[in-house]
Amino acid sequence: MFRRKLSTTTSRLTSSLKATLQKDVNYQVTTYARPNDLCVTRGLNAKLYDDINNKEYIDFTAGIAVTALGHSNPQVSKILAEQSKKLIHSSNLYYTAESLELSAKIIEKTKQFGGQHDASRVFLCNSGTEANEAALKFAKKHGITINPKKQGLVAFQNSFHGRTMGALSVTWNAKYRTPFGDLIPHVSFLNLNDELTVLQNFIREKKDELAGLIVEPVQGEGGIFPVPEEKLIGLKQICQENDVMVIYDEIQCGLGRTGKLWAHAHLPKEAHPDIFTAAKALGNGFPIAATIVNEKVNNSLKVGDHGTTYGGNPLGCAVSKYVMDTLAKEDFLQQVQRKADLFTKRLTQIQRRFPHHIKDVRGKGLMIGAEFVEPPAELVKKARELGLLVITAGKSTVRFVPALTIEDEVIEEGLNIFEKAVESVYA
Ligand SMILES: Cc1ncc(COP(=O)(O)O)c(C=O)c1O
Repeated sequence: MFRRKLSTTTSRLTSSLKATLQKDVNYQVTTYARPNDLCVTRGLNAKLYDDINNKEYIDFTAGIAVTALGHSNPQVSKILAEQSKKLIHSSNLYYTAESLELSAKIIEKTKQFGGQHDASRVFLCNSGTEANEAALKFAKKHGITINPKKQGLVAFQNSFHGRTMGALSVTWNAKYRTPFGDLIPHVSFLNLNDELTVLQNFIREKKDELAGLIVEPVQGEGGIFPVPEEKLIGLKQICQENDVMVIYDEIQCGLGRTGKLWAHAHLPKEAHPDIFTAAKALGNGFPIAATIVNEKVNNSLKVGDHGTTYGGNPLGCAVSKYVMDTLAKEDFLQQVQRKADLFTKRLTQIQRRFPHHIKDVRGKGLMIGAEFVEPPAELVKKARELGLLVITAGKSTVRFVPALTIEDEVIEEGLNIFEKAVESVYA
């Protein structure tokens, strides 16, 4: 699948270009901390190349859990090229075949592969944070329709739901929230480590003021914490009894990453959400996202309640149809779990070698975290120097979210580098 030889741009990328790029960094706002010895020029499945600095990297980040089907996936490129010649954009003023087909596919495959049993409608948009904005608005609309005071939201410690004002309001990390003054009101952060009855009592007591509860079935940015199934089952039960809409944010953990099409497909039907959100892997790198709701939620929505100019554009939808068809296959999902086992087995061995530095190895499918005793910034840097890209999650966890199509030998090669980096920093 990835045998296509990429035309290399190396020859054109001279040292003068390097100098120009170094100057150009001053034209972007200073919201990111990026290494200044790396400029990505191309990718191929689970590898990234920096032709400017002449480096090849094994990529365990997949663009932060986005390129599930690999960088430069030839089929994705072909679909984008072909669709771009037919229609790129026409807005949501009119139907397009691509967005109708994608919406139907999301609903049908979700039900077929054990996801939300009453999924019925899709809102298409462009990014994870936007999908969550829609989810929060829809939950609030449902609550307000019952009672104008029923508009509060429950979120959880360690959550991450995005950077726009609504999604940010339900994001736990105070560092992201507090510089921006007033966010949306009536948000309560609960602790998933509390007893289920404590969480349930809170929701029962506040039921007349609560519209929705938002949770990632596997918390990603917060540090890779799979939420125990009995918690999700109990939370859904109490929410259902009190007409509080349950939103699962599957932006990072969805779309095959945990070895099922959706992370909530590991749960029994009674714990399925009222609303769930998807993004990242949905376009394999082309920006597209979706908010999926049941009929109950849809019934409280009216024309004009929400909208977007680009959402559901034919280019993104054409790619997403292919992504859905590829991921939603039993054999594809099984190989994710097999590869996940390779990762966890080896990471556990590394943990045994360095028990004073690595506290825990945990995760679900190919969403894995190795928690260190101290923030692993130096380790991430060392790994990069040795040719491996990894990212952190939470304060002290190294996160592994590679392409789901990563080859076994690349997993091994990458983990060899990781072990070497750990050795070099901690031995
Ligand atoms: C669980 C979760 N929700 C929401 C988002 C926000 O998505 P985006 O960056 O596409 O807005 C992310 C991004 O990392 C995420 O991991």
